[in-house]
Amino acid sequence: MVFLPFLAVLAAFAVSTRASPLDQPTRTVTTDATSCFPALGFKMPSNTPSSLTNWWCDPSTEYGFIGFSYEVTACQSLTQLKKDFLQIRQNFNGRYIRLYGFCDNAGFYNNIVEAAWDAGVGVHALIWFGFDGGNEWMDRRNKLLGILHSNEKAKFVTRALQFGSEPLFDSVLDPSVLAAQVTAAKSNLSSLHIPVTISEMAYGYQENEDNGAQDVLDAIDLIDAHMLPFFSTEASTANKAWPIVLTDLDWFIDNGEGKKIYFTENGWPSVTSDGVQPNSPSAVANVQNEHDYYSLLDAHCEDFKQVKGGGVGWFWHIYSDDMEPGYGLYSTSGKLKFPFSPRTSC
Ligand SMILES: *[C@@H]1O[C@H](CO)[C@@H](O)[C@H](O)[C@H]1NC(C)=O
Repeated sequence: MVFLPFLAVLAAFAVSTRASPLDQPTRTVTTDATSCFPALGFKMPSNTPSSLTNWWCDPSTEYGFIGFSYEVTACQSLTQLKKDFLQIRQNFNGRYIRLYGFCDNAGFYNNIVEAAWDAGVGVHALIWFGFDGGNEWMDRRNKLLGILHSNEKAKFVTRALQFGSEPLFDSVLDPSVLAAQVTAAKSNLSSLHIPVTISEMAYGYQENEDNGAQDVLDAIDLIDAHMLPFFSTEASTANKAWPIVLTDLDWFIDNGEGKKIYFTENGWPSVTSDGVQPNSPSAVANVQNEHDYYSLLDAHCEDFKQVKGGGVGWFWHIYSDDMEPGYGLYSTSGKLKFPFSPRTSC
């Protein structure tokens, strides 16, 4: 259901006063890669530090596999969130969770923060628009901004705030209005040093090229890119998908103003469904191809590492088939669909 917008996919700031948004003003780059959050091997302090100085890892260390896209529309309990985030950290060396979907329960993001702190993972938080054109996103935005300010741990685990998913492709707001929203959120979060972006496909920007997409590209602090090559008209098997990935990646490199790039919604389905239909008759959806897409990404670790802006870090979309049919690493019965141990450095 959540993939309905992709059915139609055929291919696919006001100037910030902060110079480099992913850099904390006071941060010095440390040589010990385990002394920063959320590096593998980092030991969480028992209390929140007094400041963000030296807290976050240098973004250039965040390439290759960095974590999972994780849907929260089920409004998971705190216990479940803790269990899943810990598993992501311990079993798969995940450093981040990228939120997907929405849970409108009051204070839900406090549980995300608690579970993330507990597991030692960072979060790309998300303001969900949905596909029905409603204004619920405004309330979601206000609640989330509120918690980011009120929860003392929030700024220590929230690596980025995303407007999503695919607000340009879904035409939820006029691009200039969306850009203004990004700018306003940046301003709101400036004391917390939380960067703001949108989660979007290259195609979402491209189709708005003459309609203000540049305002959005200028406004965002980093790029949360969607990479879903299964929907390409060129798609066949996942092991042949690199040219498709590279076409969109090159677009982001050419148009991304040197900003850090993450692949947030990034995967290959093991089954087709109502919302997941290919645009190429040769596109193959099965577990082998889902696995092969992971292998393809992993094999290109060196290529991702050298992309300007600090390399490309990729999330696996998505953690479980319960969240997005066919895209999960886990099946609906909770079984791993294939062994998964992607490289986190190379
Ligand atoms: C940030 O936005 C929230 C929600 O609209 C608001 O309550 C809060 O006062 C804002 N804070 C700042 C510093 O702008």
